[in-house]
Amino acid sequence: MPAYAVIGAQWGDEGKGKIIDFLAANASIVARYSGGNNAGHTVINDFGTFKFHLLPSGACWPHTTNIVGNGVVIDADVLLKEISETQGRLPHKLKLAVSDRAHLIMPYHVVLDQVEEKRRGRDAIGTTGRGVGPAYVDKVARSGLRAGELLNPEDMALRLPDIVHFKNEVITKIYGGTPVSLDEVFAKANRWAAELAPYIRPAEDIVSGALSGGENVILEGAQGSLLDLDHGTYPFVTSSNPTVGGALTGLGIGPRSFGGVAGVYKAYCTRVGSGPFPTELKDATGEMIRQKAKEFGTTTGRARRVGWFDSVAGRYSARVNGFDSMIVTRLDILDGFESIKVCVAYELDGQRTERFPIDAVLLDRCKPVYEEVPGWKGTTSGLTDPEQLPRGARDYISRLEELLGIPTSLISTGPRREETVVMRPLMG
Ligand code: GDP
Ligand code: IMO
Ligand code: MG
Repeated sequence: MPAYAVIGAQWGDEGKGKIIDFLAANASIVARYSGGNNAGHTVINDFGTFKFHLLPSGACWPHTTNIVGNGVVIDADVLLKEISETQGRLPHKLKLAVSDRAHLIMPYHVVLDQVEEKRRGRDAIGTTGRGVGPAYVDKVARSGLRAGELLNPEDMALRLPDIVHFKNEVITKIYGGTPVSLDEVFAKANRWAAELAPYIRPAEDIVSGALSGGENVILEGAQGSLLDLDHGTYPFVTSSNPTVGGALTGLGIGPRSFGGVAGVYKAYCTRVGSGPFPTELKDATGEMIRQKAKEFGTTTGRARRVGWFDSVAGRYSARVNGFDSMIVTRLDILDGFESIKVCVAYELDGQRTERFPIDAVLLDRCKPVYEEVPGWKGTTSGLTDPEQLPRGARDYISRLEELLGIPTSLISTGPRREETVVMRPLMG
């Protein structure tokens, strides 16, 4: 029963969207299991460039059903816009199902995300400001609204006034913010009910049906393992579980349905927002990579922090997810470097360690211990044949495999779907 998870192994933006669009050629379902429209997944193929925030990255394939699972939080305005814009660019009908149990990001969640960040001041997390964290807070507090409730407008009409009243008390009296209008929230909910209804259903049944039928299902990770609420650099994390456990709870599937769990690693590292980042480059090399790779956020446009590959963090991600292979993206960005640094250990308070300290304060004190490896002549850009990879590029990948203890399944050599080298097939 072949479910294949494709999970961000660093701090997000590893190129998951590109890889999933490539792999979906061979999958009947692509299912998002966590996060919301804090995600921005870039997909580039013959239909153009797409930046998916809520739609799964299999949207461009006519044979693929795209599932927004129960673990996702949904800003219905964003989803509806994305559906209509994407549909307008595709020659086939977009196949989509949205879980009736997925929670809704309401307008007051967006306001709360912003006023809470403002209150944190210098300790701000640097959230995407999309209301994702506050929506998960309500889910856990058992006061959230689920997509399925849009289909019962009478029940929703009974619950909404009280919820909006309470949220406005918090927004105005605690944070001094601007309240949301109940009438506007009602109007939105009515429009969402009308327009999203065709997609809302027990989407998890579709996933389990496909798995029982032996079809390939891709479990699409959002964010990255080091942003995981439990396993990431808390408190500088997101409010869901991008790691593999999130795929089980976020879609209602069991571990025996797994055919593989692949971690997507950029050939270097990036991070958006605050929090420790031991290999961060605050120098000309970092700026050079940022400009060459256009490392600016897909969702917020913020400049991404850039650093060398961190194998201590990478090994940790491989462990907490049980990765059986790694997918290396953006190898082409390292073309032309004389030499490349890889972090092989940390120095923490004068001691060398190869363990990833999960305490953000300790991680912040870690200094990277680098190994310098030679770069390569020639280009990897756009390559599809493993034989054509320059020797130095192959050596770099081999060294990462050694350090992480897992083999490489795919190497991405450019942003377009076809710019991909298959080292070993990832799906059956
Ligand atoms: P995601 O959130 O993990 O899906 O990643 P993003 O889409 O936010 O960011 C990845 C960026 O890298 C996007 O602009 C992609 O188009 C681009 N990209 C993905 N793979 C490659 C690659 O192998 N080479 C290059 N040059 N760009 C890539
Ligand atoms: P994709 O799926 C990179 C980061 C934010 C912030 C922290 C918390 O495109 O890889 P949140 O809005 O989730 O409460 O913000 O998490 N973050 C991401 N960084 N890629 C993402 O998604 C991210 N989603 C959230 O920048 O530091
Ligand atoms: Mg992204």
